[in-house]
Amino acid sequence: MKWTAAKIRALKGERKVAMLTAYDALTGSLVDGAELPMVLVGDSLGMTVLGYETTLPVGMDEMLHHTAAVSRGVTQALVVADMPFMSYQPSIEMGLVNAGRFLKEAAADAVKIEGGALRAELIEALVANGIPVLGHIGLTPQSIKEMGGYKVQGKTSEQARQLMDDAMAIEQAGAFALVLECVPAELGELISKALTIPTIGIGAGAGCDGQVLVFTDLLGMSGKPVPKFVKKQADLNPIMTQALAAYRNEVESGSFPSAEQEY
Ligand code: KIV
Repeated sequence: MKWTAAKIRALKGERKVAMLTAYDALTGSLVDGAELPMVLVGDSLGMTVLGYETTLPVGMDEMLHHTAAVSRGVTQALVVADMPFMSYQPSIEMGLVNAGRFLKEAAADAVKIEGGALRAELIEALVANGIPVLGHIGLTPQSIKEMGGYKVQGKTSEQARQLMDDAMAIEQAGAFALVLECVPAELGELISKALTIPTIGIGAGAGCDGQVLVFTDLLGMSGKPVPKFVKKQADLNPIMTQALAAYRNEVESGSFPSAEQEY
C-alpha cells in the first residue's frame, strides 16, 4: 500500500507514526523495507552527506537530485522533500514553483516547510494547488543564525504560547502533519492534544503522535556525538571502519584476492 498524506493524517489517535530521513535510493529502500510510513529527504542532507556545517548552503539542485534518488528506492512510504533555505522564503510564488518541482521532477509526495504562522499563507496556496505540506516549528535549523544556536525552544510561557499559536495556524492552513523539534516534552504533549493533525516530534517528548530521527544518527554512522534526543539503534561507524581497515590490510598483505575471488 502506498502511503498518502490523507492516510498519514488519519493515523492521529490510531497509531504512532515512525518517520526517518533518507538521502538516496539505498537509504530510502532501507526505510521503506522496514515499513516506516513516511520518509523525509531532510536538508540535514547538507551535514550528514554533503559535508556542510549547517543546512543553509543546501540548494534546490541538491535537494531535487537526492529526493529523486530516494523516490526511486521507495515504493510504499510517503516521500516528503524538505524545501531548502531561500527556496520559499522570498515569495509565495517562488515557494509554489519550487514545491511543484519536487513533485514534478523528483516524484516527491509532499514538501516540508519550516516556520509558524508566517508560513500559513504559503501553506494554504500549496495545499490549494494540490501539494501536501508537512509543517515544522520549534527549533527550525534554517533560522539558526537568528536563533543563536541549536537550543530548546518554547521554554518560557510566552514562547510556548507563540508555538501553540503557530501550530494552530499551520493546522488551519491545511498541513497534514507538523514536525515539532526540540521543545519541552510537556509543550509537545499540549500541542499534540490541541491539534487534530499528527505531530511528529524530534526532541519533543513521548506525547507527540509520531517521531522522526536522522538516518545516520539512528544507526551511529558518523562517529560523531548525536543529540540527547537520539536513541541509537546501532553503532555502525566502528563496524564500517573496521571492515574497511580489514580490506586495506588484506590488499596490502596480498591476501585479497585469494583463489576464491579469481576467475
Ligand atoms: O532536515 C531534517 O532532517 C529535518 C528533520 C530532522 C526534522 O528537518
